[in-house]
Parts: sequence; structure tokens; C-alpha cells
Amino acid sequence: MPDSGLRTLDDVDVARRTVLVRLDLNVPMQDGEVTDATRIERSVPTVKELLDKGAKVVILSHFGRPKGRREPAMSLKPLCAPLGQALGVQVAFAEDCVGEPARRAAAALQPGQVLLLENLRFHAGEEKNDPAFADALASLGEIYVGDAFSAAHRAHASITGLAERLPAAAGRLMQAEVEALSRALDHPDRPLIALVGGAKVSTKLELLGNLIARVDLLVLGGGMANTFLFARGVGVGRSLCERDMAETALEIMAKAESKGCGIVLPTDGRIAKEFKAGAPSEVVPIDRVPDDAMILDIGPDSAASIEARLEGCRTVVWNGPLGAFEIPPFDAGTTAVARRVAALTTAGELMSVAGGGDTLSALAHAGVLERLSYVSTAGGAFLEWLEGKELPGVAVLRRSP
Ligand code: 3PG
Ligand code: MG
Repeated sequence: MPDSGLRTLDDVDVARRTVLVRLDLNVPMQDGEVTDATRIERSVPTVKELLDKGAKVVILSHFGRPKGRREPAMSLKPLCAPLGQALGVQVAFAEDCVGEPARRAAAALQPGQVLLLENLRFHAGEEKNDPAFADALASLGEIYVGDAFSAAHRAHASITGLAERLPAAAGRLMQAEVEALSRALDHPDRPLIALVGGAKVSTKLELLGNLIARVDLLVLGGGMANTFLFARGVGVGRSLCERDMAETALEIMAKAESKGCGIVLPTDGRIAKEFKAGAPSEVVPIDRVPDDAMILDIGPDSAASIEARLEGCRTVVWNGPLGAFEIPPFDAGTTAVARRVAALTTAGELMSVAGGGDTLSALAHAGVLERLSYVSTAGGAFLEWLEGKELPGVAVLRRSP
């Protein structure tokens, strides 16, 4: 792994200190139960390491988007139990993240104990990065640890404000994310291939613009591929397609060519007249899509060709499913490619990095989530990274040159 360039837990002395740890506990919940604990599990190593080193740990996080108001449904309190279970210690809770409740609870901590503060976003000062709010948070501890890569695209008080006020370091999750993403995009073993899917070109323009300047091959799938096919004059029937983006798609393809980045579009597709379970579907060459049909997945020839190209590559970055994988059989293309990525990774032939909410669901559906080199828990932050942006929450943790 290349060095992350960040200050890490190796650079701070936390024994007997009160450490403010910013996690992303914005986990999916239903009826008060956590439905996907990945973000909690990934936060454990940092907190455990701090506890083992004798720190008093104060955990800060946002949950949902309460917009500066106290919304009981967005309380972090229900997370004390699952968090405590994952850590193997009791987690105390403060009913507010600043003021008396927070101050008293933080002051009562002994080395090796953990306190979770109420949702930061109950205060408008969090998202505004209000100096008085950041000061109030900073007054609760002596050292700041940023471990919320998935919220690092937000220049909020608990992300950048605290790092500017206290001695600051990256947690192990942040460090791992930055190392993996740097290795994939900044210092990749080549050839480097990107798989980009998902519905829309319009939400991924900057991402595509950045990727074509960096990768050797760009494979497009999912709804966004239809826009590129349409731009090339292929009839896409009733498929999802942003017709007004055709001009932009042509520009992207021309720019890719000038940069020596190959673009791969589907050559066949699985089509149906309706997008629903059990709807009859068939595979057709991509230039034979009837006017009343929709392309809902890449076809087997396209999948085989992507798999063959992956064989020749050393690094892959993946964002966005290649088809409507939620409903079989339109998961076939994404699953085939995911399994090949996993197999090549396991064989040591490919370094693979994936991220984005739908991408994770698709990889989990294919049963390979654990088999890629690195799967990011970030959605928006992962996209901004792929866009080539420096994330404010990462920038504040960089070692000075
Ligand atoms: C996420 O879930 O993507 C992060 O927690 C950031 O949440 P936000 O988009 O509400 O800032
Ligand atoms: Mg988000």
C-alpha cells in the first residue's frame, strides 16, 4: 500500500486523553433496528485501538438530515446497543452533542470508556461549520480523530472545524479508504480499467471527465450506456436514455479518444417490454432493439467481452451496476462481471476497488462483497473522489509537506 499521506493514529499520543472521534453512523435503519451494520463494523478497529491505548473516547456522528432541528426519529440513541455489542464495551449516551449534557458525560469518562453524543445535525451549526458550534464541540476533548471517509465531502463543523481546532489524525478506516483509493486512481498498476454504470450520465459528468483522463479503458453499462448508444445512432426503444445528453456523450467519447482512453459500450442487451419480475425477456444484438422494448441489462456477449478485457488489466475501479440487477434476470451481466472481478482479485491478478450504494448492493447480490481488494462504504464521497476532487475532510488530515 502507498502511504496515505495522512496523519494517523501512529502520530498521536492518546493515553488518558479525551479523544473526539468522528464516525459515520449514518446506517440504514428500520423500526429502530440497524439493517446494515457495515459502517459500524468498519468503525470498530479505530475505537478499539484508542480504547486499548487508554483513551477516553467520545464518538460524534450525524444521522439522516434533520436540518438543524431535534428530530426524535433521527436520534443516535438506538445505536448505543449495536455499537456497544460490536465494540464489546458499554456505550454511554449524551442527550445533546454540546452544552451541559455533553460536557458532564465527557468529563465523567475514564480511560477505556466510550460515550456517544446525540446527532450533530440537530444543531444548524454543524452543517454551516459555525465557528461557535465548532468551538463548543472542541471544548469536549483534547484530540480529534477523523474516521468518517463517507462524510469527508462535507465541510461541516465536526469534519473540518474540529480538525482545525485540535491536534488531528485520521482513523484506521479513513486511512484504509484513502490508501485504497489512491492506489487505484493515483498510483495504479496499469492497465487501469473503470466500470461505470448506473442510471444517468447527467449525474456522472464530472466523474466521466476525470476518469477518461486517468484510466486506460472505460466500460459503460446500465442506463447511462443507452445515452451513449443513442448518441452513436443506435435505436434504444423505450430504454432509459437522456436524449438531451447525446451531444455531451459525443464530446466525452471524442475527449476519451484524444486521451487514449478506450470506451467500451454494450454490443448486446437483455430486453423486455416491462420492468417487472417474471416479465418475458430476450437477448438481442444492440442494434436490434425494437421500438417498444427496453434494454435492462448488458447481454452475455458484452459481459464476456468485459470479462476478457478484465483479464488483461491490473487495476479496476467500479461504480454503478451494469443492469437493473434488482430484478432477475437483469442481474446476470452485473453478476457475471462481479464474479470475474472477484476471481481475478483472489488470484492476485487484479487490484479491485468499488464504491457507491447500488454498487455495494449489486456486489452483495453477486456474493462477492468480501472478495474485492477494497469496497468503500462511501456513496457521495466516493463519487467526489472519482471526480478528482480533494475532499475537505481528507485535506484537513494531510501531513504538512
Ligand atoms: C452518506 O450516507 O452518504 C453520508 O453519511 C453522508 O450523508 P449526507 O449525504 O446526508 O451528508
Ligand atoms: Mg449521501
